[in-house]
Amino acid sequence: MLAMINLNSVIFNGTDITKIDVQVQLSAGLAKPEFNIIGLADRAVKESAERIRNALSALNLSLPTQKLTVNLSPADVEKSGSHFDLPILCGILCALGVLPESELSKYVIIGEIGLDGAIVKTGGVLAASVWANSNNFGIICPGTQGAEARWAGHTNILAPNHILDLINHFHGTQILPLPPVAQPTESENKIGDLSEVHGQESAKRALEIAAAGGHAMLMVGPPGSGKTMLASRLPTIMPEMTAKEILETSIIYSIAGKLNNQSLISNRPFRSVHHTASPVALAGGGSEAKPGEISLAHNGVLFLDELPEFNRATLEILRQPMESGKIVISRAKRNATYPAHFQLIAAMNPCPCGHLGNAALSCSRAPRCAEAYQNKISGPLLDRIDLHVDVDAVNPWEMKNDVNISTETSADVRKRVVMARKKQLDRQGYVNALLDGGDLDKYVVLDDELTTFLNTAAEKMGMSARGYNRVKKIARTIADLRGDDNIIMSDIAEALSYRPINRGKYGVKR
Ligand SMILES: Nc1ncnc2c1ncn2[C@@H]1O[C@H](COP(=O)(O)OP(=O)(O)OP(=O)(O)O)[C@@H](O)[C@H]1O
Ligand SMILES: [Mg+2]
Repeated sequence: MLAMINLNSVIFNGTDITKIDVQVQLSAGLAKPEFNIIGLADRAVKESAERIRNALSALNLSLPTQKLTVNLSPADVEKSGSHFDLPILCGILCALGVLPESELSKYVIIGEIGLDGAIVKTGGVLAASVWANSNNFGIICPGTQGAEARWAGHTNILAPNHILDLINHFHGTQILPLPPVAQPTESENKIGDLSEVHGQESAKRALEIAAAGGHAMLMVGPPGSGKTMLASRLPTIMPEMTAKEILETSIIYSIAGKLNNQSLISNRPFRSVHHTASPVALAGGGSEAKPGEISLAHNGVLFLDELPEFNRATLEILRQPMESGKIVISRAKRNATYPAHFQLIAAMNPCPCGHLGNAALSCSRAPRCAEAYQNKISGPLLDRIDLHVDVDAVNPWEMKNDVNISTETSADVRKRVVMARKKQLDRQGYVNALLDGGDLDKYVVLDDELTTFLNTAAEKMGMSARGYNRVKKIARTIADLRGDDNIIMSDIAEALSYRPINRGKYGVKR
């Protein structure tokens, strides 16, 4: 007798999803059981066989004395991950007549199986649920992830904690309830408010421009001046995430297996990456092509503190996604693409001791050590950073006596940022940082007087063509923050003040 069962699962290729047919066939005629998984399965998938054998014995079932073949189709697509355990086990139970194939084939099935038959958390449930919903399937997923599946906006969800729960459900002895909708939780990392940063008005102003126009920013200054503090508050002045952005970002976290508390990512991500991070940690990759930090920062902030301490090759990875908003991870048999539209904020000391320019504190090797230190960052990367800002130390006496305390909160600043963003989206459909080519000329219009002013400054400063365009883009954002369609002289003058690091107070020869 030949019994061929066909159930549905999915495979993730970056954020793209491909449907996989999980075919289970029992063929008679063997004296002892044989169990094979075929269809370009990786080691994690092959190990399914062992987990499934144990789960079956936990149910007091054993593999029949027949040849059992599991085929994951299409066979030319590489399969990875442990989430095929559940669809394979369900397929075997259908072949044994324990579960009804006609019912299970209406679902996309994903989940890992424990040795005792428990259904364990797996990555990608939200992504799979969104796909299932738009392709008219229900979804069967681990019990602990039912609420995650519900964020996809449908209710055709079965979320058993144990394989027995699923069997009982289809036998009608214990119907599985619809998983509850999880309430969004407060962000795990409380990031504070901009009003907590004393003084630093010019750095705050630059931060506001960065938030409004989506510009990358580099802060340079001595230790303890508040650079990290300022950067961490950027998400609090950026516009709230839209529903589309929340879903996009949450899907990446789902595939990375980082969607905790069953809640969506509804606060803009702030990913602070340590300087020892490897290229794979930053860009993504590894055997399962998992998303890296730049994708986890999608629609949010990527913060690189102590920029020159990063490995140069690691930093160079940022160049392509900073322009395209996505990253392509090349693997042996396929490429995985993840969105990576992040806002880069970097911070650094001007030299290894951090006190360049301060005669009382700087070391005897200044300024040569500063040259070597700053030259660790490549020119092309620095060229992609629109705003370069000096952040000088604040006077502790002033801080202690509450002088210079800004009463402006993050919410106040955010209102202006939201207004300026709206102007950009209404005008050109995207943020000013991405203005280029014909659009730059079309939307940044300078009259003769402004053009002469900018040209003279550019000549004096020895500005590159990219630097020249950068000033125009920043001036556009500054005018948008004023709510003005026209750019005026002070916009250009302010934009010129965010000059590249080598022209600032802490600049050295490059
Ligand atoms: N402008 C400021 N207003 C209020 N507190 C500040 C300010 N600057 C520094 N501090 C205090 O000093 C601490 C260290 O600041 P922060 O880590 O932001 O400095 P940093 O510039 O990043 O230094 P480093 O170069 O060593 O990384 C903060 O946690 C805060 O308590
Ligand atoms: Mg710091």
